[in-house]
Amino acid sequence: LCTSLISSIAPKYIRYASTGSGVTHAKKVAVLGASGGIGQPLSLLLKLSPLISDLSLYDIQHTKGVGADLSHIETRSKVKAYVGKDELADALKGMDLVVIPAGVPRKPGMTRDDLFNTNATIVADLVSACAKNCPRAIIAIIANPVNSTVPIASEIMKAHNVYDEKKIVGVTTLDVVRAATFVAEAKGLDPTRVFVPVIGGHSGNTIIPLLSQVSPPVSFSQQELDSLTTRIQNAGTEVVDAKAGAGSATLSMAHAGARFSFSILEALNGKEGVVECGFIASQETEFKYFATPLLFSRNGVEKSMGVGKLSEYETKLIEKAKKELNGNIQNGIEFAKQYL
Ligand code: NAD
Ligand code: LMR
Repeated sequence: LCTSLISSIAPKYIRYASTGSGVTHAKKVAVLGASGGIGQPLSLLLKLSPLISDLSLYDIQHTKGVGADLSHIETRSKVKAYVGKDELADALKGMDLVVIPAGVPRKPGMTRDDLFNTNATIVADLVSACAKNCPRAIIAIIANPVNSTVPIASEIMKAHNVYDEKKIVGVTTLDVVRAATFVAEAKGLDPTRVFVPVIGGHSGNTIIPLLSQVSPPVSFSQQELDSLTTRIQNAGTEVVDAKAGAGSATLSMAHAGARFSFSILEALNGKEGVVECGFIASQETEFKYFATPLLFSRNGVEKSMGVGKLSEYETKLIEKAKKELNGNIQNGIEFAKQYL
């Protein structure tokens, strides 16, 4: 009975447990903002993974309860909870990966950029602590506006002389997750087998799904292209409006954040060919930061896979995104100058 019980539980964990090589080299991961709408379910998914030996939960409130709760789960990782600024340094020491969902979410009628005033300082404070306590960790930034918080984080690391552009990534996985779901729905496909690269940034017009590069290959009418592109670009607002003042996407984001984290950890463990989209400092586009599919390795981001061959429609979408994306990036850089 015991053996059959274990094998019936096991498959549910495998999705979050695979190391690729079958060998586990467990890593240390911190979640900053761990008590929040994203932070709690994200921490739960991370707790289920054997890729993680130490799970460090930090927030300005409620982490002791979240930590006590998660620590009773029968998986290998050790959970430690840290609350308040005085405990931040200890939360970060020795970390391989720091995931940052700390910050306020949108309410109906707001843009992500409306969060800038509050979240810019939160991210700058947290990344400054990373620079001092875990300068070599990969930092995955969920906090919005991602188009600005990633440049802020980079400038802070530069000022501390510990900048490594392979290690600061904005999490755009939710755009990829949504694009796969919506395309699969439209075409009657299995969503778990659909991949849609999403490039650009993470706000409205700057979210650019590459529907000409869907895997497996599918073709769309112009009307389908328009409606799918609009839905993917506005999917965050769809959730904000449905939640009617109670915040933005948390559960789908927790899944997306866990998927992104597991991919990074697998690559840190030596798995080859790990690709996820993410928003990073860009060499090969005209933008200072740009999301593309990224190849991860033991070092973090090994290289950008570029944008591939774009359709005329997608080229126009990039053109339309230019002003907003460049403006968001510049705001982040300017903020960091004042902050420092
Ligand atoms: P939330 O309000 O539920 O949780 C935020 C948490 O951050 C709270 O627990 C709060 O105490 C904590 N916090 C605030 N200041 C902090 C600080 N200085 N240090 C540590 N923790 C701090 O919000 P949420 O729904 O979890 O969303 C968090 C952020 O993620 C928002 O900015 C939201 O816009 C963003 N988000 C991004 C994506 C994406 O795709 N990148 C998707 C969804 C949400
Ligand atoms: C999302 O895409 O769901 C997040 O960026 C949250 C938001 O404000 O829409």
